[in-house]
Amino acid sequence: MERIFVFDTTLRDGEQVPGACLNPREKLEIAMQLSRLQVDAIEAGFPISSPGDFKAVKMIADKVKGPTIVALARAVREDIETAWKAIQGAEKPRIHVFLGTSDVHIQKKFGLDRQKALERGLDALRFAKSLCPEVEYSTEDASRSDPDYLASVVEQVIAAGATVVNIPDTVGYAVPEQFGALIALLINKVPNIDKIILSVHCHNDLGLATANTLAAVRNGARQVECTMNGLGERAGNASLEEVVMAIRTRKDYFDFYSSVNTREIMRTSILVSRLMGMPVQANKAIVGANAFAHSSGIHQDGILKDRATYEIIRPEDLGITDHAMVLTARSGRHALKDKTVQMGYDLQDREFEQVYERFLSVADKKKQVYDQDVDLIVQEVIFADLADSSLYALESYKIITGNGEAPEAKVRLRKNEVVLEAVSEGGGPIDAIFKAIDKIVGAFHKLEDFQVQAVTETKEAMGIATVWVSREGFRALGRGASTDILKASARAYVEAINRIGCLVAGKVERPGPKKQNGATESKGQSACVQA
Ligand code: KIV
Ligand code: ZN
Repeated sequence: MERIFVFDTTLRDGEQVPGACLNPREKLEIAMQLSRLQVDAIEAGFPISSPGDFKAVKMIADKVKGPTIVALARAVREDIETAWKAIQGAEKPRIHVFLGTSDVHIQKKFGLDRQKALERGLDALRFAKSLCPEVEYSTEDASRSDPDYLASVVEQVIAAGATVVNIPDTVGYAVPEQFGALIALLINKVPNIDKIILSVHCHNDLGLATANTLAAVRNGARQVECTMNGLGERAGNASLEEVVMAIRTRKDYFDFYSSVNTREIMRTSILVSRLMGMPVQANKAIVGANAFAHSSGIHQDGILKDRATYEIIRPEDLGITDHAMVLTARSGRHALKDKTVQMGYDLQDREFEQVYERFLSVADKKKQVYDQDVDLIVQEVIFADLADSSLYALESYKIITGNGEAPEAKVRLRKNEVVLEAVSEGGGPIDAIFKAIDKIVGAFHKLEDFQVQAVTETKEAMGIATVWVSREGFRALGRGASTDILKASARAYVEAINRIGCLVAGKVERPGPKKQNGATESKGQSACVQA
C-alpha cells in the first residue's frame, strides 16, 4: 500500500471562516491536538496577514514536534521572509508559496500575462528555496486553468526546486471525473513529476470537495489538503475526517494508508468546533452527533444482531468511547494526573492544581467524569491564564423565576479587583442574565447567535455555551463550559463582551478578512482578542 500524506489547513484556510478567529494560544492548542492526530503537515497560518498570526505560527513552529509546520506566503519577497521568520524554529519547516495559474487570476488579479506570472512565481520559489529546503508551490485556481499551461508551470517549478506541488480547486468548481483526469494528465505529461509529492486542495462550493480529493488520489495525488470538520473559506475545504476515513474504510478500493491516528478524530473535531465556535451539524459524516445513531427499528434490530449489518465504521476507531467512564470524585490526584498525561497535556504543577480543584467540583456534581469533561476542564484552566484582571470575570449569579413571573437575574462581575453588581428582568433566565451583564458593562450587545451543547450524554453532562454578540460594528465569540448551563451561558457572554470591549477600545488587533491574494486588508466585522 502507498502512503497518502495528510496536510491539515484548519489553522489557515479553516480559520478563514467568517467570524472564526483564534488567538495564538488557542491555535497552539489545536496544533498540539493535530500533532496527536498525527497529521503529516500543519499549515499553521499566513504570517504576513497579521502580527497575531505571525505570533501564532511562530509559537506552533517552536513548540509543536512531529508534523511539518507550514507557513503560507504570496509570491512576494516580504511574505516569504516573514513566513520564514515565523517557521525557522520548526523541526521540519515548509514555506508554501501560491500564485494563480488561471487566466482570470493572471489577468484580472495581477494584470500580467502567463509568462510574466510564471517568472514571478519562479522568482518567489527560488527565493523561498534559498531560505528553506522544503517549499510547496500552489497553482491557485488550477482547476480553471489551461491544462497545458498548468503542466508547463508544474514542470518549471519542480525544476526550480519545489518539493511539493499543489493543485487547488480554489473555487470548488471541479467535478470528480474531470479533476481526476487533470491529475492523471499532469502525472503523464510532466516529465519530472516523480521528483515531488503532488498535492490537491479542494473547496466544497458544489459539495464535491471530498469526492474530488479522492478522485485525485486515485489518479496519482499523494498529499491531501483538508480541514477538520470541513471548515474553510465559503463552503469550506475537503473534510479531513471524511477523506481519511474513506481511504481507511475502503482500503479494498483505494489501497492507500495514512499516518493519521483515527482514534483522535473525535477529540480533534470537538476541540476545533469549540474553539472556533462552529458547531458541527448533527448529520455531518463521521463526526456528526447522528453519524452513529440508528433510529429505525429495522436498523436497530440489525445492529443488535451484528453491528456490521448497518455500520461501516466502528465508533471506537474515531475515539468515541461511549462507556469509557474514566474518573470519579474518589479517583484522586494521581489518577487525574495520569489521565491528563495520557491525553497529551503537559501541565505545570500550578496548572494541574487548578485542574484538580475544578475536577473535584465537577465530579461532585457528576457521578462520572469522561475524557471530554477532562478536556474542557484543562482547557478552561489553560485559557484562564490569558484573562487579565482588567477584563470582566463572572463572580456569581442568582436567578429568581417561577410560573408566570418574569425571571429576574442578579449578576456580579469582577473587574480590577472590584465587584460590580446589577439586577435585571428578562424574557427568560438567560436573557435576564445577559441584560444584567449589559447593565454592569454599560453597553448594549446584540445577541447574534446562542447555542448550548452537551458534552456527554448523561443528565449531569457538562454544557458548552457558545455566543456571538455584536456591538458598534464588531462581532465576537464567547464560550463557557459548566455542568450548569446558566453559568456556562453567563461565562460565554462575559468572554464575548470582554473581546468586544477590547476591540472597541482599540486594545487589540482586529483580524477580520485577512490580507490575501494581493488584496488590501479590509475592516473586519468579526474579531477576537489576540493573546
Ligand atoms: O484555495 C486555494 O487555492 C488556497 C491556496 C492558498 C492553496 O487556499
Ligand atoms: Zn483554499
